[in-house]
Amino acid sequence: MRITREKFKTYKAVFDQHAERLLFKLSSQGHFLHIESPISIGKEANIFTAKRSDGTYCIAKIYRVENCDFKKMYDYLKLDPRYLHLKKNRRHIIFCWTRREYQNLLKARDSGVRVPTPYALKDNIILMELIGDQQTGETAPKLKDALPRNPIAFYQQLQEQIKKLYHAGIVHGDLSKFNILNNDESPVIIDMSQATTNESTHAKELLQRDIKNVVAYFKKIGVKTDEDMLKKSVESKEQKK
Ligand SMILES: Nc1ncnc2c1ncn2[C@@H]1O[C@H](COP(=O)(O)OP(=O)(O)OP(=O)(O)O)[C@@H](O)[C@H]1O
Ligand SMILES: [Mg+2]
Repeated sequence: MRITREKFKTYKAVFDQHAERLLFKLSSQGHFLHIESPISIGKEANIFTAKRSDGTYCIAKIYRVENCDFKKMYDYLKLDPRYLHLKKNRRHIIFCWTRREYQNLLKARDSGVRVPTPYALKDNIILMELIGDQQTGETAPKLKDALPRNPIAFYQQLQEQIKKLYHAGIVHGDLSKFNILNNDESPVIIDMSQATTNESTHAKELLQRDIKNVVAYFKKIGVKTDEDMLKKSVESKEQKK
């Protein structure tokens, strides 16, 4: 279905011209009908739900081109062997940052890790699967807001996810109760722009930090574990049956 530019007028106040143009393109290509409501206005990106022609919802993550710390992004990106030849240009860096999240989500997804399936990428915008109720557009809560009913079972599932991610060659780098959703008592890992390959110089340090955050959270809610145990289990090659 073709979308008229009229439909996007309402968003002029929210999106800059470039984002508006990209959203119009994505919509014209049939990815969604219109942007519905804001879910999160963050430091680096804004998240919206978008309604699709079949009546279900997806997510649009729009990285901010202005007012973001692209120097920090540059410093992180250049440690990733996939991004060795970077130009020190704001737009270029932000587009690479967005592409990295898209690539990480794809790789994680292909390796069986429960992350939102990425649908499309254009410059600083990613369209992806909505985690939660796709019929109503209600998103799953973050782990910080939705304590698992069975912490041990949840922890075990998460451990398997981190392990799969690690063996897919990716370290998340910002894994915490803020970037893990509790989707009907199953963990879904989100927000992967800072995730890097195991070959990056700071991969070990990031993995250790992720492990520390996860263990601290689950210990607090009664799971008997420690950093060494989680690390060993993540690095072990044995697959759970
Ligand atoms: N695919 C998704 N499905 C459901 N909810 C999502 C999805 N992606 C993001 N969200 C919601 O939007 C919030 C922000 O997303 P995300 O963590 O990817 O961005 P961010 O750049 O970290 O934002 P912030 O600066 O606020 O940390 C998440 O905490 C989650 O509540
Ligand atoms: Mg986040």
